[in-house]
Amino acid sequence: MKRMVLLNPGPVNVSDKVARAQLRGDLCHREEEFARLASGIRRKLKRAFAIEDSFSPVLISGSGTAALEMAVGSFVSPEKSLLVISNGVYGERIARIAEVHGIPRTVLETPWGTPPDLDAIERALEADPRIEAVAMVHHETTTGLLNPLNEVGALARRAGKKFLVDAISSLAGDTFDFDAAGVDLAVGTANKCVQGLPGVSFALVRKDDLPRLEAIPARSLYLNLAAQHRAQEAGQTLFTPAVQAHYALDAALDELIEETVAGRVERTRRAARLLREGFAAMGLHPLLPEKWQSNVLTALQLPEGAAYADLHDRLKARGFVIYAGQGNLESRAFRVANIGDIRQDEFKEFLAALEETLPSRPANAGSRP
Ligand SMILES: Cc1ncc(COP(=O)(O)O)c(C=O)c1O
Repeated sequence: MKRMVLLNPGPVNVSDKVARAQLRGDLCHREEEFARLASGIRRKLKRAFAIEDSFSPVLISGSGTAALEMAVGSFVSPEKSLLVISNGVYGERIARIAEVHGIPRTVLETPWGTPPDLDAIERALEADPRIEAVAMVHHETTTGLLNPLNEVGALARRAGKKFLVDAISSLAGDTFDFDAAGVDLAVGTANKCVQGLPGVSFALVRKDDLPRLEAIPARSLYLNLAAQHRAQEAGQTLFTPAVQAHYALDAALDELIEETVAGRVERTRRAARLLREGFAAMGLHPLLPEKWQSNVLTALQLPEGAAYADLHDRLKARGFVIYAGQGNLESRAFRVANIGDIRQDEFKEFLAALEETLPSRPANAGSRP
């Protein structure tokens, strides 16, 4: 049977090896085999991202938002506040998590698809001594915008603030230099560029920052980063984890280490280039200028005369799942991600299917190569 090719930004297509890993067998999470599995995953995460010396992973069963909520809810000391940089759905989600947990926050917004205003960040950091940390999404999946990680990290560091990054859709897909950006905590998930299955996510925490995090009173029983970390360091797990998703993540990390993160980033970049050349040849226009685009996803303007639902359904009937625009972009844009275990020939087949599915263009609207 021909598989469905997932061009949504996660969950992604995975290799047969990763899919089969779920069937390694029933396992009680209180047995030493699970402790070995979890500590192996934590070790492999550090190895894959070359952060053995400076970071410690915390696994959490749940989607990326669970890890993000654990991170944000555990990162700000009482009486301190968080500066949230927001230019899309996921920046707004960080602010909402802070609100739910009663964390004082300043939100610096730019319109969706527009990079943050670095001067405004600098001014905000100078103006409010209560700010303890800056939080930002690296790849804003809403629009495909790659936020300026190193620049914002440098501002945070210069002002003596901690830096939390939602790297859920960028880790292993776009370049992410933990040290150059001065990241103190990065949030990731198994089922995007890491190519595991949904059900387990993680926070990568700078070891130097652990004593500060330990001193922050818990705002959640389950999503408590310091408590989860302590248990995992002791070879335990606080609650029942998604065991089979851990098996799959373990296998996915073996593949990532073999391919290398740099190799995966390059493969993702090449796939994006192939698709974008194809889109341009069809006369489709990206939502963002090229210089701001991630490797992971392209947001495209819906061409005149095309309805997203129809486009989606016709492509799905041919074996390809694309993704709608979010919020106010819903009627104007659609998205195509290029992450996961997808072959070049499948991307080419998708381009051919898309071209046949789009409404026909006026004859002078640009030529195909
Ligand atoms: C940048 C970013 N943050 C957070 C999330 C939320 O992840 P999940 O849907 O796994 O909870 C996503 C999902 O696409 C994302 O792209």
